[in-house]
Amino acid sequence: MPTLPTRHNVRFIAALDLLRAAMFAVGVYAKASASWLRLGSGACSRRRRTTIGAWRRRPFHGVESRASSSGLQAPQLLRMQIVAAPAVQNPAPQFEVGSDGFLYCEEVRVKDIQDALGPEASPFYLYSQSRIEANVRAYQEALAGMDAIIGYAVKANNNLMIMQLVRERGCGAVLVSGNELRLARLAGFDMRRTVFNGNGKTPQEIALAVRAECLINVDSEFDLENILAAAKREGRKARVLLRINPDIDPQVHPYVSTGLATSKFGIRTDQLRWFLDRIRQNEAQVELVGVHSHLGSTIKKVELFHDNVVTMLQVIDEISARGFHSVRFLNIGGGLGIDYERKGERIPTPQELIDAIRPCLAGRDLTLIIEPGRSLIGNAGILVCRVIGVKRNGDKRFIVVDGSMAELIRPALYGAYQLITLTEPGVAGEQMATYDIVGPVCESSDFLGKARVLPLPAPGTGLAVMDSGAYCMSMASNYNMKVLPGELMVQGNRWRIIRQRQRFADLLSGYRDLVALPDDDLEDSATF
Ligand code: LLP
Repeated sequence: MPTLPTRHNVRFIAALDLLRAAMFAVGVYAKASASWLRLGSGACSRRRRTTIGAWRRRPFHGVESRASSSGLQAPQLLRMQIVAAPAVQNPAPQFEVGSDGFLYCEEVRVKDIQDALGPEASPFYLYSQSRIEANVRAYQEALAGMDAIIGYAVKANNNLMIMQLVRERGCGAVLVSGNELRLARLAGFDMRRTVFNGNGKTPQEIALAVRAECLINVDSEFDLENILAAAKREGRKARVLLRINPDIDPQVHPYVSTGLATSKFGIRTDQLRWFLDRIRQNEAQVELVGVHSHLGSTIKKVELFHDNVVTMLQVIDEISARGFHSVRFLNIGGGLGIDYERKGERIPTPQELIDAIRPCLAGRDLTLIIEPGRSLIGNAGILVCRVIGVKRNGDKRFIVVDGSMAELIRPALYGAYQLITLTEPGVAGEQMATYDIVGPVCESSDFLGKARVLPLPAPGTGLAVMDSGAYCMSMASNYNMKVLPGELMVQGNRWRIIRQRQRFADLLSGYRDLVALPDDDLEDSATF
């Protein structure tokens, strides 16, 4: 059973790590781990955890029958593999269940924030600043000594304060729309270190990117023509990267796989010649400064990044063989997965990713660009909801919460798994049971988790969906006229609002000047 860490078992954990290393040395670990994985759900007793040696945390009550540690369910991912047995890393030590049974974010009890804000502000997103900083540091340390840009993929989470934070910590930005570009400028990013991506950039967006002097990825023939036209109109030379489709299977859910021959992104290498000729003919408008590729998201094998770099270096060699000597950026995209399941599976770290590609880059005069989103922000946020009630239909039990597919769509859209825990103890003396956690939206796809083993929650109890920092708030919608949730940031023992929740009045802003709106309907008593 996946678990969240307790705050008081560090020595015990260190001893377990040693024990586990010893067990693995004699081949016991893999066997034991595999049998544990087969055991799947059910109450995870302390004894079982210590026997297997992979579990260091307090039992966390949530497991789904179909396992996918990328958080996405794809046929390839159903076969779980134990790859290695180093010490299990806590993917987000900033979120822990305390010995008092309450969920903490850094030093703050999540329930205290819920109480302070009141039910009207629920659900909301809560982030840990130190987790974000640690995630950025992990990339920086991995890239030490290399000429590199960490381009934060803004699509993962476009909160302005979070963008400012990662910018202050040294990141560039990777953008996919004109509005992301405007926001990145507002956040103070150095636009010359940002990348403007996309297979369907509009001429207006390209003009914006040319004016801002972003690096612009070329995705297709028509895209290059639009870039040439914009550069001409703006009277500025565009710096471009060719987005290559390397035809490498990232072994992830089809919806987040982007580097296959059949996907809509990028240029096949057999078309390279056409692009080089066209660029050569238009050197007054464009400078070819690099190549780009992005295999997909939730990737868990560093070999795939290695294979991609090998392919991309061949492309660079071919480009220079054709007389282009201005290529200085190698952009390998983002895509590193995170440990959504928290079952102790080994997910590669940024260090392992970079170690896998570093030797290939030796002796090359290139600036590496990497575009992480999920691995910078995913495990740094949670969605905090409240239980509205518990119901039973035959044998099936449901916990109905105020959060839904409108605020967090990944489970509904991809069948994604994210851990769910109560933010406080359940009803005393009641048994744990298996529940589907569902929202109030009028669709059966409106679930946050299925078949989760949880204590019985009383109405009003807090419930958190873990690892919700990436692609959750940024994919939230107003479906069913739900407002976008507010966002808060914890730093040590303090918390602050980093985005107000929407109001009913915001949902009506499109009707301004079209209809008369009575003031009293627009009142909103929520605290933020
Ligand atoms: N660069 C490019 C060109 C991308 O398309 C993406 C993500 C990234 C970088 C960042 O990838 P990351 O490091 O975050 O994996 N909505 C899906 C994820 C879609 C990712 C799309 N591209 C989800 O909820 O899992």
